[in-house]
Amino acid sequence: MILLGPPGAGKGTQAQRLIETRGMVQLSTGDMLRAAVKAGTPVGCEARAIMERGELVPDSIVSGLIDEALAKTPCATGIIFDGYPRTLAQAESLDALLTAHGRHLDRVIELAVDEDALVDRITGRFSCARCGAGYHDRNKRPRVEGVCDVCGSTEFRRRPDDTEETVRTRMAEYRAKTAPILPVYEARGLVARVDGMAPIEEVEREIAALLPA
Ligand code: AP5
Repeated sequence: MILLGPPGAGKGTQAQRLIETRGMVQLSTGDMLRAAVKAGTPVGCEARAIMERGELVPDSIVSGLIDEALAKTPCATGIIFDGYPRTLAQAESLDALLTAHGRHLDRVIELAVDEDALVDRITGRFSCARCGAGYHDRNKRPRVEGVCDVCGSTEFRRRPDDTEETVRTRMAEYRAKTAPILPVYEARGLVARVDGMAPIEEVEREIAALLPA
């Protein structure tokens, strides 16, 4: 399945829930690119500045990452595409890659959200530097201030592209390049729309109701 929605819509949050409840695998091109930047690979070096500006990394790079990840994912495991595809060209590549890897697309879930609220969601977001658990300045603080609920680490980090200016660019990219892929999947009867402004647990329930038991 694909989780589709603008930055901060809750794709990563819901993917995490699906991993826990259904044993699915999350293929997040954002996470893959951040790992490449951290490791200083050629892909990471090319992507770093583009990501910091909030623009899209070239299609060939992200589709290459997805191809590699698909090759490593056991065929019986369900996959959540998070942040991919993001352009019409990527949607075409995904079709070809799924066929090549003997898979098919069951669902595209669009998280419908109010963009202004998203700026607050994203600029308040931070995560544990050790285990990656996600938090928010106002909505989800650690139970003990300064200590990760999950692993006890006291180090946290913020993404360099989570500034208001970059978030606005990322949203403009979404409107211009990603939203146009929705009609393609709508024409194939794959799209279900979920209210991404509802509380996290409610969004989770709505998504669960759309997937096979
Ligand atoms: P990527 O990492 O994919 O970022 P994004 O799409 O901008 O999405 P985010 O991770 O910011 O948001 P999310 O929807 O996952 O929200 P989250 O669950 O964290 O991409 C980053 C960059 O990489 C791109 O700008 C681009 O440069 C590059 N890139 C990546 N993929 C690419 C591709 N395919 N092609 C080209 N370039 C690519 O939630 C956000 C916050 O809100 C959290 O604090 C969370 O706790 C909170 N929250 C979530 N749901 C709710 C809710 N229902 N109610 C209240 N709070 C909520």
